Amino acid sequence: MNWAQARQILRFKRIDPVPSTSTDAGDLGTDPLASVRATSICIVSGKGGTGKSTVCASLSSMLARTGRTLVFDGDLGVANAHILHDVHPERTAVDALEGRCQLRDVVHPCGEQLDLIAGGSGYAQVAGLKMCELELLAAGIERLERQYRFLVVDAAAGLSHQTVEMAAASDRVIVVTTPDVTAMTDAYAFLKVLVPRKPLSVPQLVINRVTCPEEADHAARRIQRVSKKFLGFEPEWIASLPEDRAAFRCTQRRMPVVRGEEDSELAVALRDLTHGLLEDIGRHHPRGLGRALLHRLREQMRTA
Ligand SMILES: Nc1ncnc2c1ncn2[C@@H]1O[C@H](COP(=O)(O)OP(=O)(O)OP(=O)(O)O)[C@@H](O)[C@H]1O
Ligand SMILES: [Mg+2]
Repeated sequence: MNWAQARQILRFKRIDPVPSTSTDAGDLGTDPLASVRATSICIVSGKGGTGKSTVCASLSSMLARTGRTLVFDGDLGVANAHILHDVHPERTAVDALEGRCQLRDVVHPCGEQLDLIAGGSGYAQVAGLKMCELELLAAGIERLERQYRFLVVDAAAGLSHQTVEMAAASDRVIVVTTPDVTAMTDAYAFLKVLVPRKPLSVPQLVINRVTCPEEADHAARRIQRVSKKFLGFEPEWIASLPEDRAAFRCTQRRMPVVRGEEDSELAVALRDLTHGLLEDIGRHHPRGLGRALLHRLREQMRTA
């Protein structure tokens, strides 16, 4: 898709400016629209396979009990969020990107108060999205986000432009890592790229697949120490999740852990994570991922 096609689809939709971005998520000014948009939570990692989709499936399933929730699978290369909700959407975000439909046409129900925009396969794996494609996605999200209370992005692994921009424009960014030193290095690499993009809130850290509390403590403190020293800020460590075979069994059964094995150690930890997030989110007004992203992209184009 080129600019002309993207613009035609966007029809030059005017987007209200987002209030000033800062790392203080509570500072929303007097924006009257903000409170009616979904609170966005972007789940990222540097390295693949750290547990983003496992966390996303349970988190979104729990959030849906509180309010209408949309999951956006940001992996357009090897998407699999739909597997963990056991749905088979006919259309994916790639169909919207390639102009075959609008993003709203891709929304697929996958539970009570829970919808999914599936990612795709084979798209943008190497080069990443062009600015106009990302703008198209942002505009589609902007149109949808008023209908939901929560928007959870299951991001692709790695440091692609689209993943970093989405994370920066989300109300919350959760970096999922394991205590594995390569995963921690890549989590730090993600933070290093994200911080200059001025994320809307202080990134949060989840240490997954830990075998004892000391392991989580060691991993989290190490990332915090290095971030503080070299980036000038500390990510907030919000949870550690145990190594638990329940994750594998529930993936085989295509179910979020909190539904498939609700008494497992992992499900308990995921529920605690969700409750903590809900408390935190409740103290701040959402800004709207689609709107914030559009605003950022247009600023970038203006100053380029
Ligand atoms: N706490 C855990 N205990 C044991 N296994 C886990 C745990 N969390 C995730 N896994 C397993 O790790 C594998 C990768 O998990 P998942 O697909 O959620 O990672 P991901 O970060 O989404 O990967 P990708 O980057 O490819 O999207 C899966 O087989 C999953 O069952
Ligand atoms: Mg995944």
